[in-house]
Amino acid sequence: MSLRLVSHLPWPAPALLAWTAGWAAAWSCRQVGLLGGPDLAVGTAVAVAFAVGNAGAWRRFIAASGFPASTALLAIGAGADASAWLLALAPLLLLYPLRAWRDAPFFPTPAAALTGLDRVVNPPPRCVLDAGCGLGHGLAALRRLWPGAALHGVEWSLPMAWLAARRLPSADITRGDMWARSWSGFDFVYLFQRPETMPRAWQKALAEMADGAWFASLEFPVPGVASVAVVDAGVGRPLHLYRVRCAATTASGSHSTGARPGR
Ligand SMILES: C[S@@+](CC[C@H](N)C(=O)[O-])C[C@H]1O[C@@H](n2cnc3c(N)ncnc32)[C@H](O)[C@@H]1O
Repeated sequence: MSLRLVSHLPWPAPALLAWTAGWAAAWSCRQVGLLGGPDLAVGTAVAVAFAVGNAGAWRRFIAASGFPASTALLAIGAGADASAWLLALAPLLLLYPLRAWRDAPFFPTPAAALTGLDRVVNPPPRCVLDAGCGLGHGLAALRRLWPGAALHGVEWSLPMAWLAARRLPSADITRGDMWARSWSGFDFVYLFQRPETMPRAWQKALAEMADGAWFASLEFPVPGVASVAVVDAGVGRPLHLYRVRCAATTASGSHSTGARPGR
């Protein structure tokens, strides 16, 4: 398999593959007597080779760093009881339950990323959902744009949902699965997930949201669907805007700063 093909595997499989490849290479070195440095260098080089085909700097970093990081942790925790490792993993699993990994782990919406959105989506939406709201950074940015809107968030990680509800008491934030939650009744649904999530999310929007309702995705477009506008606030994460069952020309007349017609 070409190393570039790993990027077509569903995440986090490419990371697991890079980590395993790093460990396998280091183990092979040790079998032929290459110890105390060369084994780590070869393992790291192999992990990096598997990592570079991933899309996105964060994914490349996670895939490349797993082998050296786990080697360092093992050296630090040498002699520790196996239960200590399990205890160390518990907070991570609580924060990032496995289901959340299938869509996206936590990356907050940058504070300025939605600047200009209110000039494209006008009149303002009345009822807004952030599907996978994390700690509420996206909701906070939406609140600054539309102080009068009813804001809702759904988040699979219990601690994050709890913290987000405390950070944004004016929003209705619940712990739950964004796929199980109905999107009907929302006239604006916001997502910051990952590329693989977008086709399913768009199908859900089409199935549940009313004609003309807005669907917004930070950074990741819906493949094969023309957006009605792209709001680019210059933070490296453009916002792709779609309208349910409306032609892609709907908002292309918008000339607000940083907004451009959809692709
Ligand atoms: C990239 S973060 C975005 C957080 C927030 N929307 C923001 O923009 O600041 C994605 C979030 O989606 C959550 N998530 C992933 N899959 C989910 C699911 N099936 N249901 C609910 N939340 C989910 C993750 O736990 C994570 O907090």
